[in-house]
Amino acid sequence: MFQKINLTLLDVDLKRLLGSAYATDGSVYTEYSIPDIGYVRELLKEKVKFDIMPIEAHVLAVTGYVLPHLDTTPTGLNFYLETNSEETFFYKWKDEASIDNTILLAFPIEKLEKVGSFVAKTGDCYLLNTHVPHNVDVGVGKSRLVMRLLFNESFEKVLAGIHLL
Ligand SMILES: [Fe+2]
Repeated sequence: MFQKINLTLLDVDLKRLLGSAYATDGSVYTEYSIPDIGYVRELLKEKVKFDIMPIEAHVLAVTGYVLPHLDTTPTGLNFYLETNSEETFFYKWKDEASIDNTILLAFPIEKLEKVGSFVAKTGDCYLLNTHVPHNVDVGVGKSRLVMRLLFNESFEKVLAGIHLL
């Protein structure tokens, strides 16, 4: 459901990465466009090559508690730009009968069972299967900033096509 990738991005220039906010729920998360996509290429070009190219890149700011959810795309490569020791959790449904395919966001936590977690440090990179229910509790008054590359292919395919240089 997730894999740490041996890639580190530190001292990134946020001025080149943080554009305008284009999606938010008004409280917990905000997605920002990346104004200088050439800078992303510059950051990665000597570190990694992808067989499968991302379909989208943005920066995600999260504060507080995110309910378990699925992302719209199946796979995300997360570069953690700012962290506060928060834990990312993955879940499975406790019983098959309670699987509800009609919702994408805000799964009832009491119907889920934790199956894995990780704590990313600033600079870390993780590949996530975001079609597995997942969430994070960043904590009140704290924030997490993540540069995300989104892929429209399965976690396994994307992982097999990541080549560290
Ligand atoms: Fe997500």
